[in-house]
Amino acid sequence: MDKATKLQFIYDLPKVELHMHLEGSLEPELMIEIAERNGVKIPFKSADEIRKASVFDSLQSFLDLYYLGHTVFATKQDFYDLAYAYFKRVSTTNLRHAELFFEAQEHTNRGVPLQAIVTGLDEACKQAQAEFGITSNLILCLLRHFDVDNMMALLKQAVEFKHLITGIGMSSSEHDKPPALYVDVFAFAKAQGWHVSSHAGEIGPAEYVRDSIELLGIERCDHGIGARTDASVVKLLSDRKVGVTMCPISNVLLNVTESIARSPLRQFLDANVKVCLNSDDPSYFGSTYVQENYDAVEREIGLSVREWIKLAQDGIDMSWADQLRRAQLQAELDAVKAKYNVRALYGVE
Ligand code: HPA
Ligand code: ZN
Repeated sequence: MDKATKLQFIYDLPKVELHMHLEGSLEPELMIEIAERNGVKIPFKSADEIRKASVFDSLQSFLDLYYLGHTVFATKQDFYDLAYAYFKRVSTTNLRHAELFFEAQEHTNRGVPLQAIVTGLDEACKQAQAEFGITSNLILCLLRHFDVDNMMALLKQAVEFKHLITGIGMSSSEHDKPPALYVDVFAFAKAQGWHVSSHAGEIGPAEYVRDSIELLGIERCDHGIGARTDASVVKLLSDRKVGVTMCPISNVLLNVTESIARSPLRQFLDANVKVCLNSDDPSYFGSTYVQENYDAVEREIGLSVREWIKLAQDGIDMSWADQLRRAQLQAELDAVKAKYNVRALYGVE
């Protein structure tokens, strides 16, 4: 496949994004606009100033700016506008299905009603399906910098909106926050029938990935980088079919990996771990959305056609979409395989 054809092939893959924080898609212009309409003071006068401040040397330096961005949100309309802007942006990159984190605690703890958050986001998801054909699920993402009681209180409140929330995730810094602290929280979430994932092994060690699987019962591991130092944890991911939602650009910009080439993506692919590529917090990382992550991986690692198809297939298999939607996504991937004749040319079934 020549270079131009390969890039078109990568573009054509039906993309599934499973690790994207909606608040992390707040573009600087929208942050300014929402802050102004809500009368919220932020220490930036322009979108350019926010862009200039978006230079990080660690996860924590990013989180400090990122949670400041959360403070502009107040109304249902704000949440609708946030999600709609994301969908509009990715609609040009053949994104077909997205499972989106939202970080309600940062808002409810400031007095924003959970109902405004969830219904605003849900309406944007429905609009995106009608207008762009993109399906989506919402994942309520718990935040480790709040305590377990605060997490539990929110989960109990969220039960009322169970029909609009597909899963529970957990993010923020792993520093001094071992998975064992969250056994009851995840047990409660699973008892409600929610799917569960967790950020693990971003800055935490392989042991945190293992414990998230064995103690919390996660179905997907967000980031998972720490697993690379322990072959038994990589094997556990593979054996238990816990897919890893990788975020190559995020990991480089937050100094989690030295470069995309040195990320454990190849190691995971070779160990038959399920993997998909995601944008994490695209607006804070120079407006790098899912397509930019695919392109960066091709530029810096250069995966084979077989590997690209595995990534696309894994994304579908790892998703929490219903059976009908998964069948539709599978048919779209099969059509791409047929278009590029991958069976005859590359021996990919
Ligand atoms: N790690 C932890 N918390 C986060 C991240 C991340 O990459 N993105 C948004 N919140
Ligand atoms: Zn993340």
